[in-house]
This record gives sequence, structure tokens and C-alpha cells, in this order.
Amino acid sequence: MSCRKAVTSASSNFSLQSLRHLLILSSLCYLISGFSERDRAHHLMTTYPLIDGHNDLALQLRIHHNNRLSQIDLHDVSKLATDITRLQAGHVQAQMFAVYVMCGAQEKDAVRLTLEQIDVIRRMCTKYQEFELVTSAQELKNSKKIACLISIEGGHSIDSSLPALRMFYQLGVRSMALTHTCNTPWAESSSKLYSVYQRQNNSLTHFGKAVVEEMNRLGMIVDLSHTSWETSLAVLNHSKAPVIFSHSSSYSICNHGRNVPDWLLLELKKKRGLIMVNLHSKFISCRDEANISHVADHFDHIKKVIGAEWLGIGGDFEGAVSFPKGLEDVSKYPALIQELLHRNWTEGELADVLRRNFLRVFEEVEQVRNELNSIPPSEVQIPMEEVQNPCRLVLRPPDPRGLPSDQGPSSGPPGLLILAIVLLPSSVFLIE
Ligand SMILES: *[C@@H]1O[C@H](CO)[C@@H](O)[C@H](O)[C@H]1NC(C)=O
Ligand SMILES: *[C@@H]1O[C@H](CO)[C@@H](O)[C@H](O)[C@H]1NC(C)=O
Ligand SMILES: *[C@@H]1O[C@H](CO)[C@@H](O)[C@H](O)[C@H]1NC(C)=O
Ligand SMILES: *[C@@H]1O[C@H](CO)[C@@H](O)[C@H](O)[C@H]1NC(C)=O
Ligand SMILES: [Zn+2]
Repeated sequence: MSCRKAVTSASSNFSLQSLRHLLILSSLCYLISGFSERDRAHHLMTTYPLIDGHNDLALQLRIHHNNRLSQIDLHDVSKLATDITRLQAGHVQAQMFAVYVMCGAQEKDAVRLTLEQIDVIRRMCTKYQEFELVTSAQELKNSKKIACLISIEGGHSIDSSLPALRMFYQLGVRSMALTHTCNTPWAESSSKLYSVYQRQNNSLTHFGKAVVEEMNRLGMIVDLSHTSWETSLAVLNHSKAPVIFSHSSSYSICNHGRNVPDWLLLELKKKRGLIMVNLHSKFISCRDEANISHVADHFDHIKKVIGAEWLGIGGDFEGAVSFPKGLEDVSKYPALIQELLHRNWTEGELADVLRRNFLRVFEEVEQVRNELNSIPPSEVQIPMEEVQNPCRLVLRPPDPRGLPSDQGPSSGPPGLLILAIVLLPSSVFLIE
């Protein structure tokens, strides 16, 4: 018998005793229903544990420990929002760990720094037996641990090189955001923080399209978080596989440039993609404070516009500073699920949001890779004039006169060569 029926039948037979029953019964019901939503959330997340789209733990390991894992015990890190104990408490079964290299490294040592961040994630996910590095949808599904997926955050990490992209794939990278807060020579960022590679009406260049094609061929997920809407649209038009926003929220609810407007959500759905909602307060309420209701508003809105099949969660813990009240760290995800249950989301919808949508996208990306397996690795190269910078050398035998033969006209004294580099457009050097 349901609570409501019990209360109704008790109240229909009015007497002092039944009034007492009624009172006891309704407070009991209150308690049960109060607890049961919380219990339902935990139970649901035990059956369908979360695959989270974005976490910057590796960035914090660099900032605080210069990647020396020996200095820290990741079971319990109170100064951060992420550790193994709280990942387990939050029912996080898989985490995309971001390989993030600041835009200031573009045209400098971005590739080295990227390798070092991949290394620290690989070491972390090997050292702790609670973690397991996975590189396919099947391994992700089979894993009984916290599955680690590696994703690069910012196309500047490949230094405009498809061979570098392929080698990152070999190291286990299964997703890449095309930009961070800087444009690359081939794709446009949502941010105007850096003035590098300004362009008009060319938000995804010929080489940018080749990057998307190569990612499709490899089976690497294209991530549009941080790219401009124009670039996102061009990628959605060009990609053969579904793409994701790994950590972006709804622009209709909070009009921040990092969020996704409804028209773009509709394009994303047409391409069978996925938006994983970012929990950072600035993208949730457009202010420094937010709460779970504000977050749930993003979920309700996106569901209303495109449905729950194209939705996920990309917390952005360790990559941002302020998180909503009640969602301060990775152990708090059940509170969000509880709020969505309270808002009448079905368990099926929530199972989709928690993991089934991501698994579907990952499998479809792998399916496209399988279909493209007769295509050889791309030999497209970015035109030299699009990547003019003093760090980019062309591999040639050394000039017998000891003059670097790869940075300009081979005739003329070294002094002139240095002058030519200094006179290059200053925007090339404006990195930070
Ligand atoms: C870019 O495209 C818009 C509309 O598509 C047009 O109005 C504008 O003139 C174009 N700008 C350039 C530099 O081509
Ligand atoms: C989409 O691609 C087609 C063909 O490749 C092209 O003609 C069209 O302009 C593209 N649209 C956008 C919005 O990029
Ligand atoms: C969240 O904050 C809003 C005000 O911005 C308030 O109306 C709402 O009740 C709060 N929700 C929770 C769960 O605290
Ligand atoms: C959830 O559904 C119940 C019963 O159908 C209804 O009374 C309640 O208003 C709904 N809640 C929300 C937030 O839509
Ligand atoms: Zn980010």
C-alpha cells in the first residue's frame, strides 16, 4: 500500500485513535519519502555509476607538486575537491582526466608539457590499484575500478602536427578539445583572452578539417568545449562521428560564452552528440555563487530543448574555483541526482545521463573508426606560412657555415636573419 493510500484510508475512518494513527503514519511517510529520494539516488548510481567528462586533477598535481606523485597520497587530499575516497563516495566509475597545458606554451614547449601531463595521468592510474587506465568503450564497461580516460584540453597541444596527434593517440589519449582559451592556427576559441591567430570567417581552416578527419579516423572523440560557436558549427558539419562538449552548460540559463546556445544544441543532437554539463558556478548562475537548483535548471532546460539522450555530466573539478553549494567536491554527485529525481526525472533518463549516453557516443566514435580503417594516416601538413614562429624548425642537414638554414633565406649574414625574426608581426609573439 502506498503512503498516500494508507493516509487516506486512515483519515476516512475518523476517530481519536485513527487521528493518532494518521499523525504517526504521515510523519513516517514524510521520513520515508525524505530518505527514499536520497536512497534512490545512491541505489541508481550503484547500478549506473557516473562517467564524468572533465577533471583537472593533473593540473593540480603540476601546480602543487610539480608532478611528483611521491609527495602526495591521492586517497585523501583535503585541499582538493578530488581524491580516491571521494570519487568512490560519489559513485564516479570513470573520469576523463584532462591533459591541460596553458596557452602560454603555444609555439613554445606545449608538446613537451603535454607529454608530461599524459605521463603523470598514466603513472597515477597505474600506481593506485583503485584506478585503471582504459582506452576503449569495452574496457570502460568492463572496468571494476575507477576507469581513467585521457583527454587533451586544447589543440595547441599538437603544435599543428597530425603525427603528434597520432602519437598522443598511441599514448592512450581518446579525446581532444580543439582549443582552450587561445585560437590555434586552425581553430577558433570562445575566448578573446589571447590575441593570437585572429581570423574572420575561417573558424575551421583546411588544416583544422584535416585534424577532425584524422580524429575520426583514429577514433578520438572531438571535444567542442572552449571552441567558438562558429568553430563548433563547422566541426559538427564536418565530423563523421558524434562530438561532445565535455564541460559546458546552457547559454539560455546563463549567457556565458563557454555555454551552448539552444540552436547549437539542436545541431549537436542532429549529429548524435553529447553535452556534459559543467558545474562551475560562473557557468551555472553567471555569478560566483550557485546551488543545486541552479544546476538542475540547466538539466531541465537542455532536456526540454533536445531530450535527455544527449546529456551528461562534466564536473570541471580542479579546473575551476567556485562550485555550487551542495556540490563542492566529487563525492557530492548523488545530491544532484537526488534533485533531478525530485524533479521527476525517470531512472531511465538518469541512467542515460550518468553513463549510457557517453558510452553510446564513444561506441559510435569507435564504429566510425572501424568504417574508416581502409584510409591511410593523413599526410596533410599545415602550410608553413600559417605557423611562422621561431620555434618551428624544418629538419635539414646542418648548414656547413653553421647558419641555421631553416629560418629564412639561406643567403645573408646571421644578423639580418635575427632582424627578420624580430620584425615578424608582433602578434606572433603575444602569447600571454
Ligand atoms: C564574415 O561573414 C559575415 C556573414 O557571414 C559577413 O557579414 C562579413 O562581412 C564576413 N567578414 C569577412 C571579413 O569576410
Ligand atoms: C557544411 O558543409 C557543406 C559541404 O561540405 C558546405 O557546403 C557548407 O557550407 C557547410 N556549412 C557550414 C555551416 O559550415
Ligand atoms: C537556490 O538559490 C535560489 C536563489 O538564487 C533560491 O530561490 C533557491 O531556493 C535555492 N535552492 C536551494 C536548493 O537552496
Ligand atoms: C512530479 O510529479 C508529481 C506527480 O505526478 C507532481 O505532483 C509534481 O508536481 C511533479 N514535480 C515536478 C517538480 O514537476
Ligand atoms: Zn576547461
